[in-house]
Amino acid sequence: MTGFIQITDTHIVAPGALACGRSDTAEALRRAVATINAKLPSLDGIDCVIVTGDLTDHGAPEEYAHFTSIMAELKRPWLAVPGNHDTREPMRAAFPDAAWMPTQGPIHWVRELGPFTIVGLDTLQEGARHGALGSEGLAFLDTALDDLGDKPVIVATHHPWIHAGIPAMDTDNLHDGAQLMARLEAYPGPIRMISGHVHRAVVGQIGRITCQIGPATCHAVLTDHHAARDPQLVLEPGAITVHRWVETPSPGFVSDVIPIGAFSGPWPFSD
Ligand SMILES: [Fe+2]
Ligand SMILES: [Fe+2]
Repeated sequence: MTGFIQITDTHIVAPGALACGRSDTAEALRRAVATINAKLPSLDGIDCVIVTGDLTDHGAPEEYAHFTSIMAELKRPWLAVPGNHDTREPMRAAFPDAAWMPTQGPIHWVRELGPFTIVGLDTLQEGARHGALGSEGLAFLDTALDDLGDKPVIVATHHPWIHAGIPAMDTDNLHDGAQLMARLEAYPGPIRMISGHVHRAVVGQIGRITCQIGPATCHAVLTDHHAARDPQLVLEPGAITVHRWVETPSPGFVSDVIPIGAFSGPWPFSD
């Protein structure tokens, strides 16, 4: 296996309800699952799907049950880290058969894919919108990286550290991201950070680390670099992100953001 698909910020609510009174997040996730299933035959070596947080809108058990029922159609296993809209114990209770789910404590995990490894980190601070790893999360990362030597790694979190340029979102980023980044900078192998939370496709570079934020499956957050108020919801198209390890022309990670849905084509590039 050489790759995986990231989805993020699915924000599932109770059956029949709309998130924020206007966003049909369940239908958006159903369409995301259908898009992934339809794309799989065309994609090389997709091992699993990683959900980078905000699985639900309120962390309620019935929302996790709704999420589970929709994801049951997915033709790959999936793993998840929580976001600020999740609640840790209801999330743990909702997925009792998941091998990646720790029996207690933060929901960190490690997934081996062959040429590289994914380290999922729980940044949820219950009751807060911002994220943090704390000493426990940083210690989990230290142990995981020590075990990997210099193997290529993707670190997956809900909260990014880079600023997307949306002030109200940037305030609620990963508050101890500097400590995380120092560890990633010191790692001897190729390493990338992927996150969610901002509901937009954003890429930044901090030192030698590419930090990528995946677009949500459902609604987006309005890009407004001057906004002084709370973030604004816009019903832009959702998307998935395919992350792969490639050997040519130079070994490294390559990521492809693919819109959710079925579109006209394909056709040959000829008149
Ligand atoms: Fe979100
Ligand atoms: Fe979030």
